[in-house]
Amino acid sequence: MSAMTTATVSLRDLRMVYGTGERRVLALAGVTVDFPPATFTAIMGPSGSGKSTLLHCAAGLDRPTGGRVAIAGKDLGSLDETGLTRLRRDRVGFVFQEFNLVSSLTAGQNVALPARLAGRRTSAGEIAAALAEVGLADRAGHRPSELSGGQQQRVAIARALFNRPAVLFADEPTGALDSQSSRQVLDLLRTLVDEHRQTVVMVTHDPLAAAVANEILVLADGRLVDRLTGVSAESIVARLAALEPTC
Ligand SMILES: Nc1ncnc2c1ncn2[C@@H]1O[C@H](COP(=O)(O)OP(=O)(O)OP(=O)(O)O)[C@@H](O)[C@H]1O
Ligand SMILES: [Mg+2]
Repeated sequence: MSAMTTATVSLRDLRMVYGTGERRVLALAGVTVDFPPATFTAIMGPSGSGKSTLLHCAAGLDRPTGGRVAIAGKDLGSLDETGLTRLRRDRVGFVFQEFNLVSSLTAGQNVALPARLAGRRTSAGEIAAALAEVGLADRAGHRPSELSGGQQQRVAIARALFNRPAVLFADEPTGALDSQSSRQVLDLLRTLVDEHRQTVVMVTHDPLAAAVANEILVLADGRLVDRLTGVSAESIVARLAALEPTC
């Protein structure tokens, strides 16, 4: 029971079934894992292995079919929709592959948007500080189209961190970026863990990205099949190659 309270995020026998009858898909087949405070975890595995489903359930974006999710000791299953929305808003940051910034708003306005939608007043000073933290102090007035992909993703990270969430989830955050921009985003995530004790959980297909994490969880067919620590990008490639279906 103590594990449910000390980990930032706890998953217990997490199961997710989509559809029924012939269309039934078992996306998660009972995953149990803890994400401790101030750790960087990468989730890897073949396409369709359940990585995004796991992230969405762990973040309270989807409700699992079975099992339990706790964030900062709070059991998500005990919350109604209002409570779940509030917990997501206050405790969870989420970053997507496609950045999902609002194109008509400036970087600063994008960062402040979720807080403003939640009815919170925001100051120019705290928005500037949030952008400075991701290395974009001089870009507050720029719109997404005036920023590089890597800069847009860093704005998305600043937005996700604005409410000081307990955990930052990222689903292939470098998937749309070139190698140099990827490096900047990964260095930023690593710094958040090392210097700000942020808990980060990142899905990635990129072994170089995964090598930045403290631990790599490998999913296959909705199951946790491996946990790797202190491994090189090369050995990650070899481990994943064994799981990929040969076409
Ligand atoms: N909304 C949905 N309705 C029905 N099936 C779904 C839905 N979302 C995902 N699935 C199925 O669940 C399984 C796991 O999907 P998921 O998106 O979690 O995989 P993934 O590991 O993130 O894959 P990828 O690397 O391609 O992003 C897949 O078989 C997928 O087709
Ligand atoms: Mg996915």
